[in-house]
Amino acid sequence: MKKVLALALLAVLCVTSCTRSQGNNSGGLPKIGVAIYKFDDTFMSYTRNAIEKAGKDKARVEVVDSQNAQPIQNDQIDAFLSKQMDAIAVNPVDRTAAAAIINNARAKNTPLVFFNREPLPEDMNSWDRVYYVGAKAEESGTMQGQIVAAYWKSHPEADKNRDGVLQYIMLKGEPGHQDAELRTEYSVKAVQAAGIKVERLAEDTAMWDRPRAVEKMDAFYARFGDRIEVVFCNNDDMALGAIESLRKAGYFSNNKYIPVVGVDATAPALQALAQGTLLGTVLNDAQNQGKATFDLAYALASGAGPDSTDWPLVGGKYIWVPYQKVTKDNYTQFQ
Ligand code: GAL
Ligand code: CA
Repeated sequence: MKKVLALALLAVLCVTSCTRSQGNNSGGLPKIGVAIYKFDDTFMSYTRNAIEKAGKDKARVEVVDSQNAQPIQNDQIDAFLSKQMDAIAVNPVDRTAAAAIINNARAKNTPLVFFNREPLPEDMNSWDRVYYVGAKAEESGTMQGQIVAAYWKSHPEADKNRDGVLQYIMLKGEPGHQDAELRTEYSVKAVQAAGIKVERLAEDTAMWDRPRAVEKMDAFYARFGDRIEVVFCNNDDMALGAIESLRKAGYFSNNKYIPVVGVDATAPALQALAQGTLLGTVLNDAQNQGKATFDLAYALASGAGPDSTDWPLVGGKYIWVPYQKVTKDNYTQFQ
């Protein structure tokens, strides 16, 4: 009897491994390589955790830290290709470096899922096994602008110099990143679309980074002082840096307030919303972006095809995860 059971078990094991090996070449769980532009980035650490969580028990997921260096990432991807990964997910350091990555992957016929940093359309279209998972950057900018416009209209005192114009500072993410460029553009456009005149006092990059944002904001405050009426930040880490700097200048106590907005809805940003410092943020949905990235890579790795996931595949190549406005009225839903 024991022997029969053992044989039956063996047969089952053989069947599962045989069917799996049709979809991938590892003979067991599909192997998926994931390269993250750098681990030391708040939002990307959320996305990374979501990918790992989605992949648990379904695939052998190997995640590497590209340490913000494209040459390191290129070597990591070459290593994934020589290890015969069944699919590779890439958060490129430099999104214009996608062409070289695509050429190498194509030579090994290994499908690629880019995420968070969107390759240029000509690169996306250069091979049919290239995909992208992300969010529409302009949407997040528009939502930030709408949050600011609503505040401005209901708080006449926000126009400190009473000139009917909104004087602002823009703290940008990494130049060239679609999220930095488009959030910068669309946040201001949305304010103008609401019929508000704006004046840009200054704009500079703080590279998504909180300590750098403190430094930049210190310098802006030294230059413009209380002429600053609103601070737009392309992400929450920089918004928290701006708040930290403005706090030193006496804001956020004794009824001295200045609206600061970010994007991502990180845990510390939600805390700042609760404390009444941050005016608003936009949910950059790391959970769903990470899950969609894994699901698509898994579908490709196991031979099921890119259409087999629950996510709508736009133009046969793109999965878009929506943004959501987050303010003091709804932030508890996101904690
Ligand atoms: C953005 C995010 C930033 C930063 C960046 C990295 O989507 O808002 O905080 O993580 O991606 O590429
Ligand atoms: Ca003004």
